Amino acid sequence: MIILENQTLVGRGLHREVYVHPENDRLCVKVAIVSEHKEFDREYHYYRLLQKRRIHWDNLPRFHGMVATDRGTGAVFDLIRDADGQVSKTLGEYLVASDLTATQARAIVAATDALKRYLLDQAIITMTLKPKNIVYQHLSEDSGKLFVIDNIGNSDFIPLCNYVAGLARRKIARKWRQFENTIASLPSLSPELRTLVTAD
Ligand SMILES: Nc1ncnc2c1ncn2[C@@H]1O[C@H](COP(=O)(O)OP(=O)(O)OP(=O)(O)O)[C@@H](O)[C@H]1O
Ligand SMILES: [Mg+2]
Repeated sequence: MIILENQTLVGRGLHREVYVHPENDRLCVKVAIVSEHKEFDREYHYYRLLQKRRIHWDNLPRFHGMVATDRGTGAVFDLIRDADGQVSKTLGEYLVASDLTATQARAIVAATDALKRYLLDQAIITMTLKPKNIVYQHLSEDSGKLFVIDNIGNSDFIPLCNYVAGLARRKIARKWRQFENTIASLPSLSPELRTLVTAD
């Protein structure tokens, strides 16, 4: 069993706490805050499916299985870090940052386009896409990469989209439009970021 120390906490959502893996600082361990395993099960199932499909992991942290911890069973994933080694911040934090430069904003726009292409190419389904569930890996002032770190998979009763790529792409396109609307409703978007939601 591994011990998850308070000071290694990376982030906390509504359902889970995320810690740096004590034996490998390139990995993180996610444990449930409340003993609610439905989300974990769905995610686990979907990740297994993606592994079998041998997708590219360009914009998705790899899943490394489950591990016993002192805070209950944990799920192990790649921990996304910036070029300087800091744990990457969420897109949500970048979108509301007041000190974002125009160059950085353009890099985020480019990374967002790349993420959309990736999800469509690989037919990776997400539930509601939210800026707090995407992290921006800052590689340099003018380049970076987005990773979806939460809410992938499908909650449909009969998840046909998981198996039919055409259906999956339609679902992804719909989720993406919702995502753009979420971003458009943010009050303090910079002009560069505004192009995220006004393009095409
Ligand atoms: N692989 C990762 N790399 C870097 N940071 C991460 C990673 N996974 C999670 N985080 C950080 O931890 C936070 C919480 O993780 P996560 O979104 O998985 O929890 P959650 O409880 O399922 O969230 P929600 O409230 O959306 O249900 C994220 O917002 C992010 O800041
Ligand atoms: Mg989350």
